Amino acid sequence: MLRQQDVGHRIVVRRIVGIREGRPLFSDALGELVELSETHLTLSTAQGQVRVPVAQVHRAKRVPPTRRPTAAAVVALERAADEAWPAPTRAQLGDWLLRSADGWTGRANSALPIGDPDRPLAAAVDAVERWYAEQGQPPIINTPLPLAAPVGAELDARGWAARPPVLVQTTPLPLRPSPASTPVVPGAATATNEPGAAAGHHVGTVAEQSGTAAAPAGRWSSAVVELSPAPSAEWLAVAAGRKGGLPDAARHVLTAVDQVRFAHVYVDGTLVAVGRGTVTGQGRWLGLSLIEVLPVARRQGLAGRVVHELAAWGVSAGATHAFLQVEQHNTAAVALYQRLGFTTHHTYLTRVAPD
Ligand SMILES: CC(C)(COP(=O)(O)OP(=O)(O)OC[C@H]1O[C@@H](n2cnc3c(N)ncnc32)[C@H](O)[C@@H]1OP(=O)(O)O)[C@@H](O)C(=O)NCCC(=O)NCCS
Repeated sequence: MLRQQDVGHRIVVRRIVGIREGRPLFSDALGELVELSETHLTLSTAQGQVRVPVAQVHRAKRVPPTRRPTAAAVVALERAADEAWPAPTRAQLGDWLLRSADGWTGRANSALPIGDPDRPLAAAVDAVERWYAEQGQPPIINTPLPLAAPVGAELDARGWAARPPVLVQTTPLPLRPSPASTPVVPGAATATNEPGAAAGHHVGTVAEQSGTAAAPAGRWSSAVVELSPAPSAEWLAVAAGRKGGLPDAARHVLTAVDQVRFAHVYVDGTLVAVGRGTVTGQGRWLGLSLIEVLPVARRQGLAGRVVHELAAWGVSAGATHAFLQVEQHNTAAVALYQRLGFTTHHTYLTRVAPD
């Protein structure tokens, strides 16, 4: 059992969550023990804080801390992620990258301060501010942590704001089989140059579709995941809905990668789920982005199936690992990715200069 000395350490807790046919049902939680009282223990997990009554604890023990990735591993992954989301306008400040894409997404419109900027830190931040002023854009710096913590401290001193933390998560490939994924119909995942080319496909944005009546469950499980080297117009409409418009630069960000696939799931002619996969980082990294399912089609296993199909394509293209970026407070997506086997490699904060 746990003692006060375990507070602050990583633990796993097996709790009894019910009884079925006279046998206890267990659920496991993994995280940092933040509080231990006589009645409860509180864990900080990837999904947020979990409070467990001591009476429900079947077993609990300390586990070794997660191994922090090396700085070199963080740099390599951040560079692979940059290749996977390529801003059309780019410059370098020593090793630092400066990126601009008509303001479309923070990632493609921020400086990436990794490596040596070839000048003192304060002068480097001044240069970033000047470059973005020339682009007519607010200066934004994306700080992978803890690698770029010194940059973060400089930005704190200058009063830069921070957007909510983003988790950069990874998993080895192939993906482990997921209970969330419905078995894929053999031969269902197809590579086609004409995504959604069948007649009658409706341009279905999430907002438009959110009021649609629930469909019979079998409808979703028989849906086919199509992988295509180009996005359909409907796919782009979903991306525009999620990211707030679609300037020309956005098309570049989405498509200017040699190895890229766009996942489309149509049901009755309506695009109900999308996703994007890239292989970058010298062929090592499958990058997943824009995984999205219409509200009416959620919790039917579609996102899991989209990720599995993109992962299978990534493996066939030679990738050995997958990564994605997810906002820490996006509990649905974090739960989905945890179920698929992803864990947090590092985090980043998007920092925005004061007006
Ligand atoms: C996140 C999202 C893609 C999940 O799509 P989905 O098709 O509903 O996910 P799945 O049905 O494949 O879910 C698989 C598992 O993930 C977890 N999960 C998914 N949504 C969840 C939610 N809202 N709450 C808790 N767990 C959730 C569950 O473990 C689920 O299995 P279960 O339904 O058997 O419990 C969807 O909610 C969405 O489109 N959100 C808006 C866009 C977005 O945030 N995309 C991710 C950007 S990184």
